[in-house]
Amino acid sequence: MAKIEIIKGDITRLHIDAIVNAANNSLTGGGGVDGAIHIAAGPELLRSCKLLEGCETGDAKITKGFNLPAKFVIHTVGPVWQEGKTNENQLLASCYKESLMLAVRNNIRTLAFPNISTGIYGYPKPQAATIAFETIQAFLINHQQIDRVICCCFDEENLKIYRELYDKGIVAVRVFSPLAIETTSKLAEKIWHEHYVPMIGIEQVSYMVNSFQSVKAIGNQINNENYQYYIIYHQSEPAGYIAIKPMGEELFLSKFYIIQEKRGTGLGKKGYDFISKKAKEFGCKSITLTVNKNNINSIKAYRKFGFEIENPVITDIGSGFIMDDYKMRSRLDTD
Ligand code: APR
Repeated sequence: MAKIEIIKGDITRLHIDAIVNAANNSLTGGGGVDGAIHIAAGPELLRSCKLLEGCETGDAKITKGFNLPAKFVIHTVGPVWQEGKTNENQLLASCYKESLMLAVRNNIRTLAFPNISTGIYGYPKPQAATIAFETIQAFLINHQQIDRVICCCFDEENLKIYRELYDKGIVAVRVFSPLAIETTSKLAEKIWHEHYVPMIGIEQVSYMVNSFQSVKAIGNQINNENYQYYIIYHQSEPAGYIAIKPMGEELFLSKFYIIQEKRGTGLGKKGYDFISKKAKEFGCKSITLTVNKNNINSIKAYRKFGFEIENPVITDIGSGFIMDDYKMRSRLDTD
């Protein structure tokens, strides 16, 4: 899967398959990066754009790059920031997604984005950067045809925001495609063997991974049992995964793991903040989970997130294996 790269520079100088232009609906050029691209590409670009008959906000259209080092220009039109009142976040996400879809359709494997809408259109930079990251990351998890995506920052402020997001942020990407389910199952296999073998032994771990975390089992949970799975990405690498199931007023936190090498870096807290956000979106009043009684570290970590032990839970999971857990609950603060 391609990694997201962050650079500071002038997008018109990049020698890659395509650069994305933050255009306006007329596609007849303008200021900012639009102006810079038209100047560098030469007058042919404007002639070619005029044949496209404009572009809707959130949509994307493609032309050649003409005098640019890039072979193509993907023109997309970001939303003008209106205090979040006119669906700007969806429209901005659509700019990134439609541009990436257009790249795939044109066999473009390397492309660079400017920080769309964060200049003349006034979109707040931190929110725009998060939307860019989440949309690009989600796309790359399901599309292997892209080799390289560059976020080309022109100003220091955007560069700092993107770098911070890349170094410290996580992107939780919803698992839908067979490829994403396979990635999740592989993550589960790795994490469960690292984490649970010392606690419950290799036989029970193998039985549980094959029964509950196989590609088939995860697919069934997602498609037939109303589970939502998310892969947690950090620095464009899978760093863990989450499985949740809304159950009326409570959100059941079925799985929440961070890989060994990424533990202790604050990803757990960021992951839990994401889970709490989802619980509130579902209108849940609390989050519940079950945790192995011997899993002292996890119990301690969950206590830090506000969970309290409610009662012991013994579950026969088949083939003579028993899960000896505690049920824990965290009540959400109602805003
Ligand atoms: N390379 C990379 N990024 C650039 C460049 C460049 N040469 N020039 C400007 N940028 C950055 C800006 O610093 C900003 O972070 O592009 C980002 C987007 O800013 P704008 O170009 O102002 O685009 P946007 O905010 O989407 O507004 C679009 O501006 O240029 C007009 O015709 C365009 O009407 C449209 C509006």
